[in-house]
Amino acid sequence: MASSLFALFALSTWPLNGLCLATHHGSSPAVLSRAISNDSETPAYRNPSLCVDDRVEDLLQRMTLEEKAGQMFHAMLSMGPNGTLDKGSEAARRNSTDFMIGTQFLTHFNLVGDITDARQTAEFYNRVQKRALETRLGIPVTLSSDPRHHFTENIGTGFDAGRFSQWPETLGLAALRDAQLVRKFAEIAREEYLAVGLRAALHPQVDLTTEPRWARIAGTFGEDSNLTAELLVEYIKGFQGEKFGPTSVSTVTKHFPGGGPMENGEDSHFVYGKNETYPGNNFDYHLIPFKAAIAAGARQMMPYYSRPIGTQYEPVGFSFSKGIVTDLLRNELGFEGVVVTDWGLITDTYIAGQYMPARAWGVENLSELERATRILEAGCDQFGGETRPELIVQLVKEGIVSEERLDVSVRKLLREKFILGLFDNPFVDPEAAERIVGNDYFVRLGKEAQRRSYILLTNKNETLPLRNAGPETKFYIEGFNATLLQNRSYTVVNKPEDADYALLRLAAPYEPRPGGFEAGFHAGSLEFSAEERARQAAIYSKVPTIVDMMLDRPAAVPEVAEQSVAVLASFGSSSEAFLDIIFGVAEPEGKLPYDLPRSNAAVEAAMEDVPFDTKDPVFRFGHGLKYAEQCGKDM
Ligand SMILES: *[C@@H]1O[C@H](CO)[C@@H](O)[C@H](O)[C@H]1NC(C)=O
Ligand SMILES: *[C@@H]1O[C@H](CO)[C@@H](O)[C@H](O)[C@H]1NC(C)=O
Ligand SMILES: *[C@@H]1O[C@H](CO)[C@@H](O)[C@H](O)[C@H]1NC(C)=O
Ligand SMILES: *[C@@H]1O[C@H](CO)[C@@H](O)[C@H](O)[C@H]1NC(C)=O
Ligand SMILES: *[C@@H]1O[C@H](CO)[C@@H](O)[C@H](O)[C@H]1NC(C)=O
Ligand SMILES: *[C@@H]1O[C@H](CO)[C@@H](O)[C@H](O)[C@H]1NC(C)=O
Ligand SMILES: *[C@@H]1O[C@H](CO)[C@@H](O)[C@H](O)[C@H]1NC(C)=O
Ligand SMILES: *[C@@H]1O[C@H](CO)[C@@H](O)[C@H](O)[C@H]1NC(C)=O
Ligand SMILES: *[C@@H]1O[C@H](CO)[C@@H](O)[C@H](O)[C@H]1NC(C)=O
Repeated sequence: MASSLFALFALSTWPLNGLCLATHHGSSPAVLSRAISNDSETPAYRNPSLCVDDRVEDLLQRMTLEEKAGQMFHAMLSMGPNGTLDKGSEAARRNSTDFMIGTQFLTHFNLVGDITDARQTAEFYNRVQKRALETRLGIPVTLSSDPRHHFTENIGTGFDAGRFSQWPETLGLAALRDAQLVRKFAEIAREEYLAVGLRAALHPQVDLTTEPRWARIAGTFGEDSNLTAELLVEYIKGFQGEKFGPTSVSTVTKHFPGGGPMENGEDSHFVYGKNETYPGNNFDYHLIPFKAAIAAGARQMMPYYSRPIGTQYEPVGFSFSKGIVTDLLRNELGFEGVVVTDWGLITDTYIAGQYMPARAWGVENLSELERATRILEAGCDQFGGETRPELIVQLVKEGIVSEERLDVSVRKLLREKFILGLFDNPFVDPEAAERIVGNDYFVRLGKEAQRRSYILLTNKNETLPLRNAGPETKFYIEGFNATLLQNRSYTVVNKPEDADYALLRLAAPYEPRPGGFEAGFHAGSLEFSAEERARQAAIYSKVPTIVDMMLDRPAAVPEVAEQSVAVLASFGSSSEAFLDIIFGVAEPEGKLPYDLPRSNAAVEAAMEDVPFDTKDPVFRFGHGLKYAEQCGKDM
C-alpha cells in the first residue's frame, strides 16, 4: 500500500508562506518598520503571512556580524547517547552542539553516523531545534545528510541505510535506466528524510565516470552525460518536489564542474589526488549534468576539492576559483542558488583518526584567513565542514571583506530556511517518524530495485537461473552466509571439488590504502592481484562457478568472464536479493552504466576526461543479458 506516501502530501496543508503576488516585491518600508519597531509584537520575520523576502530582510537587519558569520558554516553534527545533544570531547568543547549553536550561532549541520532508531533521531532533531530556538533570534537549524539509502559506509561519502529503506547505489538505478524509478526512489527518500528532520540532501552526485579508477564512482549515475542528465532531473524533483516549499528537501548537486577526470584516478580528498586533468579537452562534457540540474531547479551546488590542470582556469581547488564559481557557474550557466564548499578547505583536521590537511589545493601556502577570503571572493556562500565563524568576523572587522558581501550569502541561506518552512514548523513528530521510516512498502520497493538492478554479463550454456537445483545440489560459497542457502534447503560444502556449483560474491578489485579515513576509498588498479587470480582460477577449474561482483568501480577482469560460467554485476544488494536472482525468483534487468575495461594498462593509456575511450573494453556501456524465456510460461 502506498498509504504512507499520502502523509507527504497531507503536509502540504501547512501554512503556504512566501506566496506573494507576482507583482509584489516586498512590503512598504512603513509596514516593515512598524512590524519591527516594537519588540513586544511578533517580529516581521516570525510572521508567516509576510513574503519570504520581507521576512529575510527583517531578520537580516536584526542580525549581528557574529550571527551572520555563523550562517555561513555547515558543520558536522553527531547525535549524543540516547538522542541527546553531543557534548563534544574534553579537548574539543568547541564542537559540542551547545557551543556550535549557542556561541558560534551555527544553524546548518550535516548529520553523521547511521540512523538506527527513527523515533530517537526525530527526538534528537527536536532537541537540536529547541536549542536553536533558545538563541537570541531563534533561527532554526537546517539538518542535511550525505546519502543514507544504500550500502556505502564512509564518513566522507555516505552512510549505510540503517533504519531507512535500502536501495542499490545510484549506479544501480542508472543500470535500470528507469527515470520513473529514480523519481519514486527520491520521493521515498524525501519522505524518510522529512520524518526525522533532514531538510537538505548533500547529493545528487552527478560526476561523470570518465576515469574508471576514481574511488567515488558508486554514488554517480555512470559514464554517460545524457543518461546522467535524464536521471538527475527526476532525482532532484523527487527530493525537492515540483515546487520548492515546506515539504521539500533541498538538494546539493555535486561536484561542480564534474569530479570525474581525476589525474591517475586518485581522489582529491588526498594530497596525492589533488589534480583534475583534461588531456582530451573535454571539460564541457562534464558540465552537461549541471546544466540539466540548473534547469530542473537545483537549489544548491558543491564544487569539488580538485584543482584543474591545463585548462583556462586557475589551478586552484574549484571553491577557491572565481573563474569557476562566479564566471562559469553563476554568470555563464545562470545558477542563482547556494554554493557550499566541500568539507574542510580551511582547517587541518583529523578524520577517523587520520591527519587530514585542509584541502586547500593550489593555495596551500595561504593562511586560514587568506583561504577564507579567496573562497568568499570566488563567490561561495557557505564553508562546508568548518566551524570557524571567527575568521569571517575578523575579515569584516579588518575591512578585508564587506558586511554587504556576507549579506549576499546570508540572504540566500535564510531564504532557504523560510521556504522550507523551518521558521513556522521547526519540529517533527517522533511517532510519525517511527511509522514512516523503513515502512514495509518502502523497504519492499528498495529490495525490488536491488534485485532488478542486477546485470547479467555472461551466462554460458544458459546456466542461470538455477531453476532445477534441489536439496541434493551442493554449493561451495564465498562472500555470504551459508545459513541463507541452507534455509532454502540447499546443501553447502566446504571444498570447490565437492560442489556442483560455486557461488562467489566478490568485491571489485582495489588496492587497499592505509589510514583510518583513506582505507574507506577503493582506489588503485582495477585488476585482481596475481595471487587472487590464481586463487580464483583454482576454483573455476574445479567447479562451474557463478560470480557476483559488486561493481563500485568498473573492474578489469576478463579472466573472470572467461573462466566462470556466469558473471553478474551488482551495485549494492542483500544476499537474499542475490539468491533470488540465482534461483530465478527475480530476473536481472540492468545494463552497464559504464564500460568494463580490458586491463588497468588500457585505463592508464586512456584520457581522464573522455568517456568510453579505453581500448577494446570487455563489456560496453549498455551491455546486459536477459534470462531465457521459460517454456510454457504464461504470456
Ligand atoms: C509596543 O506594543 C505594546 C502592545 O501592543 C504597547 O503597549 C506598547 O506601547 C508598544 N510600545 C511602543 C514603543 O510602541
Ligand atoms: C568532536 O571532537 C572530538 C575530539 O576531537 C572528536 O572525537 C569528535 O568526532 C568531534 N565531533 C564532531 C561532531 O566533529
Ligand atoms: C540510554 O538509555 C538506556 C535505557 O534507558 C540507559 O540504560 C542508558 O544508561 C542510557 N545511556 C546513556 C549514556 O545515557
Ligand atoms: C546526448 O544528447 C544530445 C542532445 O540530445 C545528442 O546530440 C547526443 O548525441 C547524445 N549523446 C549520446 C551519447 O547519446
Ligand atoms: C599536479 O599537477 C602539477 C602541475 O602539472 C604537477 O606539478 C604535480 O606533480 C601534479 N600532482 C600533484 C599530486 O600535485
Ligand atoms: C609554499 O611554501 C613552501 C615552503 O614554505 C615552498 O617550498 C613552496 O614553493 C611554496 N609554494 C608556493 C606555490 O608558493
Ligand atoms: C556447455 O555445454 C556444452 C555441451 O553440453 C559443454 O561441452 C560445455 O562444457 C559447457 N560449457 C560450460 C561453460 O559449462
Ligand atoms: C550467519 O547467519 C547465522 C544465522 O542468522 C548467524 O548466527 C551467524 O552469525 C552468521 N554468520 C556470519 C559469519 O555472519
Ligand atoms: C528462512 O527463509 C524464510 C522464508 O524465506 C524467511 O522467512 C526466514 O527469515 C529465513 N530465515 C533465515 C534465518 O534467514
